[in-house]
Amino acid sequence: MDERPIDGTRSYYSKGAIFFHWTIAALIIANLAIGFLHEGFSPALRGTAMGFHKSTGILVIVLTLGRIAWRITHKPPPLPVTARSWEKGLAHAVHWLLYALMLALPVTGWLMTSAGKRKYALDFYGLFPIPYLPVAQNEGAAHTYADRHELLGWIALALLVLHLGGAAKHYFMDRDRTVQRILPWLRDRSAA
Ligand code: HEM
Repeated sequence: MDERPIDGTRSYYSKGAIFFHWTIAALIIANLAIGFLHEGFSPALRGTAMGFHKSTGILVIVLTLGRIAWRITHKPPPLPVTARSWEKGLAHAVHWLLYALMLALPVTGWLMTSAGKRKYALDFYGLFPIPYLPVAQNEGAAHTYADRHELLGWIALALLVLHLGGAAKHYFMDRDRTVQRILPWLRDRSAA
């Protein structure tokens, strides 16, 4: 599984990067589902689900900051030799845009909740209070943040679909080892 090329570089991500990737992915998928579906829940379930949604969003901010620190201090494995230089540049730019989205999406939710009526307690899974962001309570501003939160939610959903489509293409059609870089336990489907 290690398959280190002769120069000693790894062909898969470090354990820390794999942990951050899959933990944050699961939390974001859960929050997208709750965010888009909560209006159909019963009032009691909606209250619990939205409390979980807010706590999970704050957890995503903390984990994303940890992930960025990890990314800066741990070099990712090199892209396949077949990747052209513009493809490498694009992959790099998209990865940093995704980090920005992973922060901007929960921060707009936090801003919306802080600028809104503050009807419900804001706490971290009921364990301790989360402070409101220092913005004035203002219905107009809360609506603006809500619109941005929703727009970023749709962008995240679209990128998630593209991301999964790209992974499926690498695994089933190109049969290269791109997916195994982040899922080293996955069976090798390479044609060679
Ligand atoms: C990874 C983090 C997050 C994701 C993926 C996410 C996603 C979403 C989505 C897709 C919606 C539905 C938007 C709509 O259709 O109007 C939503 C609603 C909402 N989000 Fe988030 N969110 C995140 C973090 C947060 C945080 C940190 C807070 C607050 C502390 C928050 C507060 C809210 C609230 C209050 C709503 C309901 C708005 C309404 O019904 O009017 N979100 N979220």
